[in-house]
Amino acid sequence: MIASSAPLAAATESKHLFLRAAAGAATERPPVWLMRQAGRILPQYRALRANFPDFKAFVKTPEAAAEATIQPVDELGVDAAIIFSDILVVPEAMGLDYEMIEAKGPRFPQVIENQHDVAKLISGAEAASHLTYVYEALKITKRELADRVPLIGFAGAPWTIFAYMVEGGGSKTFSKARRMLYSQPELSHALLQKITDTTIVYLRNQVESGADLIQLFDSWAGELPPAHYSAFSVPYLQQICEALPEVPKTVFAKGAWFALEELANLPCQVIGLDWNITPEYAKKATSGKKVLQGNLDPCALYADIPTIEKETRKMLKAFGSNHIVNLGHGVYPDTPLDGVRAFVQTVVSSEW
Ligand code: CP3
Repeated sequence: MIASSAPLAAATESKHLFLRAAAGAATERPPVWLMRQAGRILPQYRALRANFPDFKAFVKTPEAAAEATIQPVDELGVDAAIIFSDILVVPEAMGLDYEMIEAKGPRFPQVIENQHDVAKLISGAEAASHLTYVYEALKITKRELADRVPLIGFAGAPWTIFAYMVEGGGSKTFSKARRMLYSQPELSHALLQKITDTTIVYLRNQVESGADLIQLFDSWAGELPPAHYSAFSVPYLQQICEALPEVPKTVFAKGAWFALEELANLPCQVIGLDWNITPEYAKKATSGKKVLQGNLDPCALYADIPTIEKETRKMLKAFGSNHIVNLGHGVYPDTPLDGVRAFVQTVVSSEW
């Protein structure tokens, strides 16, 4: 059992496996869910998605977003739902519009380059007020879930959102975003602070709308040298975690094995791990201070069923207690559904 703070005492008493595990309390088996479970792996998601001209229209329709959120709970029997949305709604709410290009990914027609661009962005409560469709989706989902499983709210970590706003999309090198940290450190901090101020209000509103736990996705953490990760990402994660004392929080910093010791000191309860990290290394680096979430290679789910079962059991054994089962990153859209089912079922039928 990991010591929990007073505001989280309620979670340790929860009827939900996932919340008890996140608060560091004992559970009869580890809970399981998958990042990107609300998505293209499910035929019913693809059918729902076909009703919309594009991804953004779908995300901005609260009833549909709620339906996509609940689909994996019905279909797969996972122990948590994650609200169907995207991390890029935050830059959009701050005034930087994006397009989601089919089969390619996001693109920002305008990017952040200088002082003037940062000054123009709106932030904090004003920016967060443009995200009422997410709050609505959470409220509908919460009502329709009827307390079957807890509901995860989320946001991108400030560094990852910064990377999208400066690069204008995904990138092989992230050289524009990384360059700005060297060439304009003060401007970089000003932008990171504006993103942080917005994210804090956004996540508070998510909690008020029914999110039981918050996950921060630092998808591009692994792009930074350790000193820059400490200077340009961790302090902002710290601010966000401090601003949400009432719910358990998960920080998933992909590729940031080098920062695990530092992440273990954040006021969060759960650390998400990608598949490059061994459970043994992660347990040692976090000194048993955090619940660990992850970290099966998403590609393991393309294997035959006995191999999936074997790999999942191997992972369960290596983590032992204080573990929330997940993949090391989002499930890939073309993963066979039977593989996903085998992964979930292996955990559901396991015992410590
Ligand atoms: O099931 C869930 O996890 C909830 C929904 C969710 C989505 N995106 C839906 C989505 C979550 C938590 C995200 C987070 C997200 N979005 C991250 C962080 C996690 C990670 O993968 O590292 C990032 C980096 C993004 C940005 C993003 N959104 C990209 C790069 C893409 C295109 C790539 C792709 O998968 O197509 C998206 C689009 C997106 N977000 C889809 C979904 C279901 C696919 C679009 C579609 O259905 O048309």
